[in-house]
Amino acid sequence: MNNRLSIFAPAKLNLFLKVHEKQLDGYHRLETVFQSIDLYDHLTFELFVNNPELPDSINSSVCNVKIDLTKNPQSHLVPIDKSNLIYQAVRVFAKKAKLPKFTLHVQLDKRIPVAGGLAGGSANAAATLYALNYLFGEPLEQGDLLLLALELGSDVPFCLLGGSMLGTGRGDQLTRLPELQELLCVLVFPPPDVTLSTKEVYATFDKLSLSRPKDDVVVEKFLEILLTKKSDIFKYLYNSLEEASVSLSYWVDKAKSTIDSKGFTSLVSGSGPSVFTIAPNEAQALNLIRELEDEGYHAAAFRAINEPFHVIAH
Ligand code: C5P
Repeated sequence: MNNRLSIFAPAKLNLFLKVHEKQLDGYHRLETVFQSIDLYDHLTFELFVNNPELPDSINSSVCNVKIDLTKNPQSHLVPIDKSNLIYQAVRVFAKKAKLPKFTLHVQLDKRIPVAGGLAGGSANAAATLYALNYLFGEPLEQGDLLLLALELGSDVPFCLLGGSMLGTGRGDQLTRLPELQELLCVLVFPPPDVTLSTKEVYATFDKLSLSRPKDDVVVEKFLEILLTKKSDIFKYLYNSLEEASVSLSYWVDKAKSTIDSKGFTSLVSGSGPSVFTIAPNEAQALNLIRELEDEGYHAAAFRAINEPFHVIAH
């Protein structure tokens, strides 16, 4: 049995996000178009079945988990206690698969902005479910993994499947969409201290909605453009949470107007604060990045990808 696995877990963008009413479970009904991009967190999992207690591990009756962070400018923002979704993923997996107590060492190189609206934490959780299922010889079916994923967060089921997907329900009812390989986006990274709480953004959305008429934007139109004229997609980018995100963060407001002032259409991803735009070609993407960097932003170009993870078995 292999006891090590490396996974590159990608970030996601929401190219379209329409938020509907709050449901009885407290979550809002959504229609969203998820897209994985080639910005990755790198995770290496090492499994010890003889169960040593590694120094600084988080211990419970089902598992010992040690999370080590590769040092980088945002590593101090990642919790390495029980609130980390990696630990929570290990716990729910071990319980569901009825595993004997084991120890897992996870090395995490965090490249996706923390609490940035790019599903970085969800990607880590999905990678952990995938890795454990692999390392233990696939005790769970994909349907079980998707249910565990939803327990961990609304974006985690998508992160298990990746690519281009329509998400409805809580974002967990997923339908694969045509590949968007040629899609090139320019992403503006929020500074490490600019983060937004998803819960707070939804709560602000609810407050703002009280005084707004409902808009008539529909996902069907976005899907029609996706199927018939992909090059026009940038005109139909949409996010119901954008106004809430802008109202909570001056940085989001400024980043968006800077991109828009250069003739591009900006959009907040998910609940923010990351902001992106779609570039028609590499030359224009590079030009925009140069201009944004001149104004003090950290920006980079990424491509759409079609798979959830790159996996390297050791
Ligand atoms: O599922 P996740 O943990 O990512 O959600 C974080 C918070 O975002 C939830 O507690 C809820 O307040 C809000 N949310 C929502 N409707 C959704 C997804 C998230 O209200 N469909």
